[in-house]
Amino acid sequence: MAYESESVWEFSTAGNITFGLGAAEELDDVVAEYDAESVLVVTDQGVAEAGIVDEVTAPLDLDDVTVFDEVEPDPSLRVFEAACEAAAAVDPDVVVGIGGGSSMDVAKTTSVVHEHGGEILDYVAPPTGGGRDVPGPSVPSICLPTTAGTGSETSPVAVISLPDEDLKVGISSRYQRPDVALVDPGLTVSLPPGPTASSGMDALCHAIEAYVTQRYDAKPAPESRSDRPDYTGRSLVTDQFARAAIENIDDGLRNAVNNGQDIQARRNMSLGSLMAGVAFTNAGLGATHAIAMAAGAIQHTPHGVTIALTLPEVIRFNATSAFDRYADVAELLGEDTSRMSRVEAAEAAATAVERLAADVGIEGGLSTLDVDEGDVEHIAERASSLQRLLAGNPRRVDRDDLETIVRRSL
Ligand SMILES: [Fe+2]
Repeated sequence: MAYESESVWEFSTAGNITFGLGAAEELDDVVAEYDAESVLVVTDQGVAEAGIVDEVTAPLDLDDVTVFDEVEPDPSLRVFEAACEAAAAVDPDVVVGIGGGSSMDVAKTTSVVHEHGGEILDYVAPPTGGGRDVPGPSVPSICLPTTAGTGSETSPVAVISLPDEDLKVGISSRYQRPDVALVDPGLTVSLPPGPTASSGMDALCHAIEAYVTQRYDAKPAPESRSDRPDYTGRSLVTDQFARAAIENIDDGLRNAVNNGQDIQARRNMSLGSLMAGVAFTNAGLGATHAIAMAAGAIQHTPHGVTIALTLPEVIRFNATSAFDRYADVAELLGEDTSRMSRVEAAEAAATAVERLAADVGIEGGLSTLDVDEGDVEHIAERASSLQRLLAGNPRRVDRDDLETIVRRSL
């Protein structure tokens, strides 16, 4: 049969996005819109101890609120199961995730599993899981990010760590996108400089990878609508989100790290992270995320820092296949490319990313995360299996290429 290319793109996001200083104060109204009598809050102890949960839930009738605060970074299956048990005990009408990507991911999956039953691994793709599709809408989920980076507040994905197997797996479904994202930059003010920097670099990478990923019509047409992948490729719509995200992050990140109380910088970062999330959850990602997911699972390296230290070499590798796209990125990051060749302009994007990372305290290569030459093959091998991420990479990238990129990033 003759090759038929995709001719359609889709665009999905959270059911509602409410953005701005004070957005979190509207939780009360949102809960009321759902006529919710029982509310399960999913969060972590750091966020709870910072007083954010008390502040956000204060207007709610506390008799109806149950707080599950056992989420950990890179949450394991055990954490997801504990949250589902908490849900089973109170049968919530809404699930509210307050925190970084981990808390929001656990909240989203809890609402799915509580609604549709079964085990968490039933919903994970084979060979690890049962590959069960989420059959329909779930208990309404409301997400309030307290970092500016993951984009989980609009994404259909939750990432689950299986530490015994050095593996991270995901559940992805359109029915796992949050119903409401309340994005309030005020909730990020107490985030310390280190996590502000690393989550911000992660958000920047989401925007850049979404901007350079393969276009939707560079992929084969699916057999049917339900066979269309989650990442449908970039479109003019995702491009606009990605460009605005890069500009906002470039404007805000240095000041947000330097002075957490700089509310304009925090607003830029929350908006940039949100828009980057909207872009990548539709368009897709690339080799940087494949490598970071592999290194995170094998070496337990922190996601945002790994991303920041790998992205420049991925840009240099990819540049030859997407000169113009990376030249745009360089300009959006403030580089003057007017006197540069196409190659120089594309490579300026790598330099600009390195400079921004260094300005917020992230430099020195993957060796600073205890990744060394002996780990390179293993990480490249694992990364090469992450086809869902690599399929969109603008340049064809095989195992050897990934090895080269990781080695250069040491
Ligand atoms: Fe990321």
